[in-house]
Amino acid sequence: MPLTIPHTWTGVAVTAAGHVALVTGANRGIGYHVARQLAEAGVMVLLGARDPDRGRTAADALAAEGLPVRSVRLDVTDEVSVVSAARWIETEVGRLDVLVNNAGVAEGFESPSEANLARVRATYEVNVFGVIAVTNAMLPLLRRAPAPQVVNVTSTLGSMHLLADPDARWAGLTPLAYRSSKAALNATTVLYATELRTAGIRVNAVCPGLRATGFGGGDPPPGAGDPAEGARGVVRLVLAEDVGTGGFFDHDGVTHPW
Ligand SMILES: NC(=O)c1ccc[n+]([C@@H]2O[C@H](COP(=O)([O-])OP(=O)(O)OC[C@H]3O[C@@H](n4cnc5c(N)ncnc54)[C@H](OP(=O)(O)O)[C@@H]3O)[C@@H](O)[C@H]2O)c1
Repeated sequence: MPLTIPHTWTGVAVTAAGHVALVTGANRGIGYHVARQLAEAGVMVLLGARDPDRGRTAADALAAEGLPVRSVRLDVTDEVSVVSAARWIETEVGRLDVLVNNAGVAEGFESPSEANLARVRATYEVNVFGVIAVTNAMLPLLRRAPAPQVVNVTSTLGSMHLLADPDARWAGLTPLAYRSSKAALNATTVLYATELRTAGIRVNAVCPGLRATGFGGGDPPPGAGDPAEGARGVVRLVLAEDVGTGGFFDHDGVTHPW
C-alpha cells in the first residue's frame, strides 16, 4: 500500500533513498512492519533484535524480497550490546539518519497497590532506560546526519492528560508498570526534543494504536487492529517533512495531548 501523508503534515521524504534507519525490537510485531515499510520507501534499514537468530531470520525474509535490510544484534537493556551495535553501525554502515525506539514490553499488569517491583523495573529497563541508552549511543552518528531524527514508539496509555482524566477511555485501566513507563518515555521524549532542537535533531513520539501483536503475552485484546497499519503511522512520521520536533501523534498523524 502506498504511503500517504496524514492531513496534519505535508511533504514527503526528508528521509529516503541513501538514508539509514535503525529500528529496535524489529524482529516481530509493529517494529517488523516499520522495518519493512521504511525499506519499501527506499531507506536502508538496520533491523534491531535482541536475539541474533530471530533478527537474522526477520532481516533475511525482507532481504529476500529485495528490500535493503540488515540485522543488528541489539538488546536495549544490555550496555555492551548497545555500545557494540553503535560501533558496528559506525564501522560497517558509516551513517545513521533515523532511530526508531520501538522495542517495548509490558511485564506486569498489576495496579499500583499490588505492583511487583521486579516487573516494574523490568518494564522500565526496556521502555525507558533502554531508549535512553540506545539514543545516547546513537547520537554521535545522528549528529552527523543531514536531517537526523528520533521517533519513540509510545502509547496513549502513557498520556498524562488521559491518566489524569477520570472520564477518559481506559481510565479504569491501572497497570502501573506499563502506563507509568510510557508516561516516563513521553517526558523523556520532550526533554530530548528540547535539548536537541538547536542541534537540528528532531525527536517525536507516536502511538501506533491498539494492535494485534504478541505484546504483553496472551491473546490480543478485542478490537486490536492490524500491526502493519500501526507501523504505517510510525513510518509516515519518519517520512513527513514539516512535522517539527517535540510532538506526540496518533498513528493517523493527529497531535495527541501529552
Ligand atoms: N501492540 C499494541 O497494541 C501497542 C499499542 C501501543 C503501543 N505499542 C508499542 O509498540 C511497540 C511495539 O510493540 P508490539 O506490539 O510490536 O510488541 P511485540 O510484538 O511484543 O514486539 C516487541 C518487540 O520488542 C522486542 N524487545 C523486547 N525486549 C527487548 C530488549 N530488551 N531489547 C530489544 N528488543 C526487545 C521484542 O523482541 P523479542 O522477539 O526478542 O521478544 C520484539 O521484537 C512497543 O513499544 C509498545 O509499547 C504497542
